[in-house]
Amino acid sequence: MAEKSAKLLLNDAEYELPILSPTQGPDVLDIRKLYGQADVFTYDPGFTSTASCESTITFIDGDKGELWYRGYPIEQLAAKSCYVEVCYLLLYGELPSPTQMEDFRNRVTRHTMVHEQMHNFFRGFRRDAHPMATMVGVVGAMSAFYHDSTDVNDEWQREVAAIRLIAKLPTIAAMAYKYSIGQPFVYPQNDLDYAANFLNMCFSVPAEKYTVDPALSRAMDRIFTLHADHEQNASTSTVRLAGSSGANPFACIAAGIACLWGPAHGGANQACLEMLREIGTVDRIPEFIARAKDKSDPFKLMGFGHRVYKNFDPRAKVMKESADEVLDLLGIKDNPTLQVAKELEKIALEDEYFIEKKLYPNVDFYSGIILEAMGFPTSMFTPIFALSRTVGWIAQWKEMIGDPQNKIGRPRQLYVGAERRDYVDLTAR
Ligand code: CMC
Repeated sequence: MAEKSAKLLLNDAEYELPILSPTQGPDVLDIRKLYGQADVFTYDPGFTSTASCESTITFIDGDKGELWYRGYPIEQLAAKSCYVEVCYLLLYGELPSPTQMEDFRNRVTRHTMVHEQMHNFFRGFRRDAHPMATMVGVVGAMSAFYHDSTDVNDEWQREVAAIRLIAKLPTIAAMAYKYSIGQPFVYPQNDLDYAANFLNMCFSVPAEKYTVDPALSRAMDRIFTLHADHEQNASTSTVRLAGSSGANPFACIAAGIACLWGPAHGGANQACLEMLREIGTVDRIPEFIARAKDKSDPFKLMGFGHRVYKNFDPRAKVMKESADEVLDLLGIKDNPTLQVAKELEKIALEDEYFIEKKLYPNVDFYSGIILEAMGFPTSMFTPIFALSRTVGWIAQWKEMIGDPQNKIGRPRQLYVGAERRDYVDLTAR
């Protein structure tokens, strides 16, 4: 029995609910036996008050605006670490030693190429397909190309699948991009680091030499780091739910990509930049603020608000600094989109509606400005989010598979449909 417990009085009976204490964050009422004992369900659409699993990977303090990967604050990792090291940290729980780092980097680098036959798979898509549509299909198809790493009960296969996914997702995202613009696929180059390799696969062409700017690849790497994991968000929960049935990891990550695509989640980075462009000039901001506040208008300020953060999203702070740096580096002065973003942020943060609802800029607010400055079209913003988040998804999936408490995810419902009724023949209706 847990040290603390709560009492529930229901229909003259009393039930004791154990209280579980995390290392950080609010206590958790353990209701696992409630239905068996009291014949009631709990009701929590959107899981606003429900912890769906135990996890040691990522912690968010939404009130303080803090995000930690395995205990390390995101600001420190963004400033001092690199994405591949962050991948190791998320997967294995500790920062690597120099030898472990070297070995891990080698393993990831040696898996960056995709099966040559996958090129044909890409060619089946329409060129004007959204790269996220292509990615959902191609990543799902990985289970058809790499079936030697689909047995979820084999620890070694799980490990190989994790490395393959982390290594190949940039290649797949870059191929989706190249395919959409009608350029030849660019093979990965193992002498480039993870972010530089991705930029090279996106922007180099056979006709001329392309050298990756180290400062840009550092900025790209930071974007990957900031998106690497975010505890039990919608796409991660999707991956866990898909995986809880024993589905193979490639299928689960494809499910995560599908969920991420929505504009309330990872699709917000594309939607945000499109909104900033639509606003266009600072003088039009009040019109859009008014629309965001109008209950009869479905419009929301994209890149604002978060289920967990009720204070600044710490990723947005780093992203804002990065946007200034990258634009400076590229010699882009007076970028109108950045001007609109900064002014919009200022006005919104002083507005009673946004203050009262604790709506702050989230990670998607500034990322699009950086990606656009680097030369990416808006349609590539969410694929970049997806490739960055793959490590988080796979770390969470591995944690779940290794958890002895793992059960198939199977929520119940509050049924409000018709009472039992008898079928009426078509002729009698
Ligand atoms: N603009 C205007 N009003 C908003 C916004 C917004 N961006 N976000 C929330 N609100 C209002 C909302 O209408 C509601 O008002 P009321 O209490 O009067 O009904 C209140 O604030 C609470 O919002 P909610 O929709 O109940 O909150 P949620 O936790 O269900 O949704 C969210 C969180 C992120 C889906 C939502 O804030 C949103 O749609 N934001 C815009 C899309 C976006 O930027 N998404 C990226 C999230 S961060 C990266 C990621 O997760 O992928």
